[in-house]
Formats: sequence, C-alpha cells, structure tokens
Amino acid sequence: MPEPYPRRQRFSDLIPLRNPFILASGPPGRHAEGMIQFGRTAGAVVGKSATLHAQQGNPQPRIARVGQWGMINWEDLPNPGYKAFAEMIAQAKQESPAPIIGSIGPLESVDEQLLIAHAFEDAGADALELDFKWGAGFGDDLLSRLTGAIKQVVRIPVIVKLSPYIGDIVDNAIAAEQAGADAISAINTVYPAMKINVDTGKPALSFGSGGLSGGPILTIAVAAVYRIYKATTIPVLASGGVTCAEDALQHVMAGADAVQVCTAAMIEGPEVFTRLNTELDALLSRLGYSSLDECRGIAHQTALHVPSSATAKPKN
Ligand SMILES: Cc1cc2nc3c(=O)[nH]c(=O)nc-3n(C[C@H](O)[C@H](O)[C@H](O)COP(=O)(O)O)c2cc1C
Repeated sequence: MPEPYPRRQRFSDLIPLRNPFILASGPPGRHAEGMIQFGRTAGAVVGKSATLHAQQGNPQPRIARVGQWGMINWEDLPNPGYKAFAEMIAQAKQESPAPIIGSIGPLESVDEQLLIAHAFEDAGADALELDFKWGAGFGDDLLSRLTGAIKQVVRIPVIVKLSPYIGDIVDNAIAAEQAGADAISAINTVYPAMKINVDTGKPALSFGSGGLSGGPILTIAVAAVYRIYKATTIPVLASGGVTCAEDALQHVMAGADAVQVCTAAMIEGPEVFTRLNTELDALLSRLGYSSLDECRGIAHQTALHVPSSATAKPKN
C-alpha cells in the first residue's frame, strides 16, 4: 500500500539511524558519558539543549515523577554553555556508535544561534535540532528567521522541534518547512502542569509549574504527529509519551519516521532502547508486518475526524 502522504525523503536518508528509537533532548544527553552510553543502544542521540553561556538551571526540585511513566520538569536548561558542549559532542562522536545530534536552546538572537550551530557542526554533530519555544506567528516570525538563517550556513540537516502550547503546531511546522527545515520533531513537554505534595501543601517543583512529559502526553503527541505529517512533506520525528512498542507504533502509524524518547529513558536508562527494539520486532511480527515502512501513516486511511486546525473544537 503506498504511503498516504509521501515524504520528500526519509529521515534515515538524512542521517543513518541504527534503529528507529532516538534519545530525545534532556538530562541523559547533558554529558559526554550519557551520550556515549545511550549511543550504544539508541538509533541516534540528541544532546541536552545548549545556550551561549553556562546555566545552573532552576533550584531543586526541578523534576518530579507523575505516576509510573510521567514527569513534570522545569529545569531551565542547565548546561555548560556551547563551547564546552561542543567539546562533549566531539568526544561523544569518537566513542558513540550512534549519530549525535546537537540541540540548540531557545535563543532570540540569530547571531548567537549561528555561533552555536557552527561550533556543533565543527565538533562533528550529525545534525542540529532547534528547540523552539516560539511559534511562527510569535513576535517577528522568529521561528522562520532563525531556521532560515541556520539553513543558509550549515551543511548538516536541521530539525525543528516544536512545542505543543505555542500557537498552532501545524502552522509552525509548515513555517519551519518553508524556512528550509529538513525534519520536524514534535512534541516538547506540555506546559503548564503542576503537582502538589499533600504532606507539605507545596508544589512539587521549586518554580511551581513545569512541562508534562512521558506516558500522560502520548495521545497529545500522536495527534500532533498525525496533523503535522498530513500538512508537510518533510520527515516527522515523534517525541512524546513512548513507554512501550505499541506507543511507538502509534506514532509511526500517525506518520512518524522515527521515535524520540526522553522520560522513559530517564526512568529506565540505556536498556530502554534494547527493550523497545525487541518489543517492536515482536509486535510487528504479531501484526503481520515485515517492516515499519509498511505501517507508516496508515492511520490516515481510516481516521475522519482529526481537525486540521487547532481552532476546531470537539462538541462534547
Ligand atoms: C527533564 C527533562 C528535560 C528536558 N530538556 C529538554 C531540552 O533541553 N531540550 C528539548 O528540546 N527538550 C527537552 N525535553 C523534552 C524532551 O526532549 C521530549 O521532547 C519530551 O519530554 C517528550 O518526550 P517524552 O514523553 O518521551 O519525555 C526535556 C524533557 C524532560 C523530561
């Protein structure tokens, strides 16, 4: 069966993935050792988002568990700054069997973003991921300007990572594609979310609220991937809520080329990718598929009521 909305190219044509699971940007990718360890089991590894200067991040506690597979966090990008990060990428590139993707934090200055992009490309990063906390219609079309500027100066692929809570994620994905992005990654954490410790009566996070991730956001992420896949022609990387192979297959059936995992990787460690790959092989053979390519986007052949615009509201 032909793919419902064919891509211009597959993500694995941009960078060769060792398997369909990618370590998403987050705490495991903050150090070279983490990138190397996860690079032994993941298809590729994304580093923690870097900023121009070193940042301590928010005071502890800045991460809290929500149920078995959920988390809220507001870390505020603790990282050693882009120069030290570029050195860690260079080290990880030497020792990790998996490709390394450098993540650039949400900056407002094109010049700062270009500095980091150059440094990461020179360090050997296989691709860049731009962590956007702005939408296409936010301010002065920052997403389009930053993406376009980076695409003009780097040779490695550029992935635009979108947040679910800023404008319409589909409009932002289209703007990213038009600005030259090679792939979209969706979604980042769902903000704001809050957990209150009933023993103390205080919010579990030092800053009160944070972004929700892990199991609880799977359905939101699948809908985002589904809508973005339909509206664009570049590869979509799913990110959100994956804790087992069935979750990952939902993303692929919605149209994802590959699947990023952060929260489950933090909870389970590098072994999560070994488990997910083993489970996925078993699931595909139980369902009678010989490869993921046979499943990509097939949910589009049956679903009728997924809105193409975020303004469409269900009447319940
Ligand atoms: C503690 C924590 C830190 C994160 N830091 C970043 C970050 O620096 N940059 C980024 O793009 N995404 C960051 N994320 C978002 C993840 O990469 C991922 O998109 C999101 O958590 C959804 O995937 P998941 O449900 O598998 O965790 C972070 C997530 C968590 C839980």
